[in-house]
This record gives sequence, C-alpha cells and structure tokens, in this order.
Amino acid sequence: MRVAVCPGSFDPITLGHLDIIARAAPLFDRLYVAVLENTSKRPLFTVEERLELLREATAHLPTVVCESFTGLVVEYAARRQARVIVRGVRSALDFDYEVQMASMNKQLAPDVETLLIPTAPQYAQVSSTLVKEVAAFGGRVDQWVPAAVGERLYAKLRGREGATG
Ligand code: PNS
Repeated sequence: MRVAVCPGSFDPITLGHLDIIARAAPLFDRLYVAVLENTSKRPLFTVEERLELLREATAHLPTVVCESFTGLVVEYAARRQARVIVRGVRSALDFDYEVQMASMNKQLAPDVETLLIPTAPQYAQVSSTLVKEVAAFGGRVDQWVPAAVGERLYAKLRGREGATG
C-alpha cells in the first residue's frame, strides 16, 4: 500500500488545501489528512470542528481519511505506515519553511520523504489566517473556502462577538 499523510492546522480548510489534497490523493492508495492537535497557535475552530469541515470537503475522495494527531508528524506517519508527507507550497516564503521542516523530518525519519506540491495559481495567495481576517470584518470569503466552511466561519465569528459582548 502506498500511504501518505498530509498534516496541517486546517483552521479552517481552504480551497487551496482542498486542491492539494485532491491532487495528492490519486498518487496514493490512502491519504491521511491530519489535523495537528497540540499546536501553539490559538485556533478559531476546535479540532473536532476542523475535522468535520475536512470530512465534508473531502467526502468525494474515497481514499482520503481525515483524523487528528499529536506529537511529531514523523511519528504519526510511522503509526500510519506512511512513507510520504505531503505539503502544499504557495510561495518562496513557504518554500524556505517547508524545506527546513522537510530536512529536519528527514533527519528524524530517513525513510520518510516530503512531497512538496505547488499550489494552483488561483489559490497562491489564500491562507486560513487571511480568510479569517476577511470574514471577521464582514468580507466575502466564498471564493476561497468550501461553502460549508464560509457559513460555519460567519456563525463562529457571530458567536464570538456575542460571547465578548
Ligand atoms: O498548516 P500548518 O500550520 O502550516 O502545519 C504545520 C505542521 C502541522 C505541518 C507542522 O507544525 C508539524 O508537522 N507539526 C507537528 C510537530 C512536528 O513534527 N514538528 C517538527 C517539524 S520539523
């Protein structure tokens, strides 16, 4: 079995993530899309919410399995018997960071390769962080995220406003 993992924060999934997942999926028998649980970032969506959104967005991809993980990505890959870590690259800035991670992961787990997939040009400027910022100020985000994510994003941000007065 050719198995890969595609790790990330996915807070929330964007069409850029989905494009990478859909392009990587046919290269493997199984692709685990994995939400990192113990991130130092303060997420907007809980791990469960992010997983629900990922599962909805990837429901049409039968070989994709969405789950969460804790700890090192190479250890998670070993638990799933995956030999490949898939990551999307939007820019030279991403590339530097991804190569740094790939080289450290290679030293931690020499059998695991990192596969960097260039983001489609129409999603090269899309990030979860900026999508959340646009939505927080009432802007339209439907061109960058799956429809269900947009709805959930506005609902979440309305809930937050209510919570803080
Ligand atoms: O979507 P993100 O936030 O860019 O994803 C970053 C992620 C989750 C891929 C990275 O932080 C990660 O792999 N974290 C797990 C801990 C780990 O293995 N760190 C060492 C990488 S060299």
